[in-house]
Amino acid sequence: MTATDSRTVGRSDRAAFSEPALWGLVGNTPLISVRLSDSQTVRLKCEWLNPGGSVKDRPALFILRDGVARGELPGKRLLDASSGNTAIAYAMLGAAAGFGVTVCVPANASRERQALLRAYGAEVILTDPLEGADAAIRAARELVARHPGRYWYADQYNHPANPQAHYLTTADEIWRQTDGRITHLVAGVGTSGTLMGAGRRLKEWNPHVTLVAVQPDGPFHGLEGLKHLATALLPGIYDPTMPDRTDFVSTEEAEDRVRSLARDAGLFIGWSTGAALVAASRVVRGLSDDPTIRPSDAVVVVIAPDGGTRYLSEAERLGGERPVP
Ligand SMILES: Cc1ncc(COP(=O)(O)O)c(C=O)c1O
Repeated sequence: MTATDSRTVGRSDRAAFSEPALWGLVGNTPLISVRLSDSQTVRLKCEWLNPGGSVKDRPALFILRDGVARGELPGKRLLDASSGNTAIAYAMLGAAAGFGVTVCVPANASRERQALLRAYGAEVILTDPLEGADAAIRAARELVARHPGRYWYADQYNHPANPQAHYLTTADEIWRQTDGRITHLVAGVGTSGTLMGAGRRLKEWNPHVTLVAVQPDGPFHGLEGLKHLATALLPGIYDPTMPDRTDFVSTEEAEDRVRSLARDAGLFIGWSTGAALVAASRVVRGLSDDPTIRPSDAVVVVIAPDGGTRYLSEAERLGGERPVP
């Protein structure tokens, strides 16, 4: 039995579809203050508290709604490529609605992610780990070309519902949670949906909001979910003129931040959040040289896409390197 609420999606001829109650739990995540040092405080948008454990519940929900509205779902299986979090979001939200879900995922996605996908009953197609998300995208494209009647290719890298989800929900929440005082938005770039969607909306409200894009510092990195855009397939939704600055962060710097935040603040965040916090530290440090803003007026919001428990099998390397005081 599927728990449902009264909201429906799509045109009237699709009105028979009732959204599962679980879909209503997506979004409305807390924004908390986090001290990075004596002189550095930022606000963390706790996206790991979404029901599927990541920020990707938001675009997945909007994409599923679009599939229903177009009449593609539930007749076909939803198909997409993902480094893991979107796949989990589709699998969870799809299971709640009784939709078939097939995902192409790089074989080096963490054990926890692969186990979760199988737990939700998704069909998982593993792709060459050396080629990362790009191989998964190619596999999905080939599959839908061979079986167009079986699959609906959601294509999160090009689907307008991906940034739209952040335009309509993430930005709105951040604006309300900061009383419109946000000055900087710092977000890692994977599909770029978060930064494009939330960034566009925030700049409409206040053109002076600075958008900081965070990328890995090279093509081979351990920052799952993030893309080194110079060497990757460029997402169709990415607009290079949107970020005011791009910061490049190494896996080691991000890991250090993950380690210190767990021990000093009780927050065990994912690696891409670690990278975003490294970039946020640089932003805060640079404020004293910025003539356009008083450092005390800065409200730096950092997107925390997921939590560290999703990477526990890789987390052994975090232990034991700092002596207990
Ligand atoms: C852990 C993690 N961080 C960051 C991102 C980047 O988000 P976006 O795709 O909105 O750019 C993703 C996207 O999958 C992710 O899974």
